[in-house]
Amino acid sequence: MLADKYADRVAAIFAKYPDKRSAVMPLLYLAQEEYGWISEEAMAQVAELVDIDPTQVKSIAGFYTMYSEKPKGKYWLQVCTDLPCALRGADEFHQELKDYLGVEEGGTTTDGLFTVEHVMCLAACDKAPMLQCNFHYMENLDMEQMKQFIEEKRAEAAREKANGHEE
Ligand code: FES
Repeated sequence: MLADKYADRVAAIFAKYPDKRSAVMPLLYLAQEEYGWISEEAMAQVAELVDIDPTQVKSIAGFYTMYSEKPKGKYWLQVCTDLPCALRGADEFHQELKDYLGVEEGGTTTDGLFTVEHVMCLAACDKAPMLQCNFHYMENLDMEQMKQFIEEKRAEAAREKANGHEE
């Protein structure tokens, strides 16, 4: 349970807000960090912490692209394909990325490492093609850079597996 495992962090989050209902978003972020996605169970935990109805938590989680209501790969690649980025080749980049990883929109690679999906404007329009990977921006991309990034992460995962531990 988040409340037990992260008692200090939960307390620190609550300390920032005069009304504990305002802590829904940081608590959802904490839940996603812990579980990798926001399940119904995680929403129920957050709802209980802030003392609101779980359906209200669900509507917040559903509204923002930063929260995922289904399991994701270790690296969540959210490609902006909104118009300004599309004009700089984001659609082609997005398609090539999915092709390289062998996934459909929103899909996750069979090794559980990468999920690809498109999102709306991330406010880095002049640096397209761009994406956010686990909320870190990667900008002015091309497929050669992405292939290198993907293969590095695959090698890293293989090393961790060989050493008997996964993050
Ligand atoms: S349109 Fe892609 S970051 Fe703005």
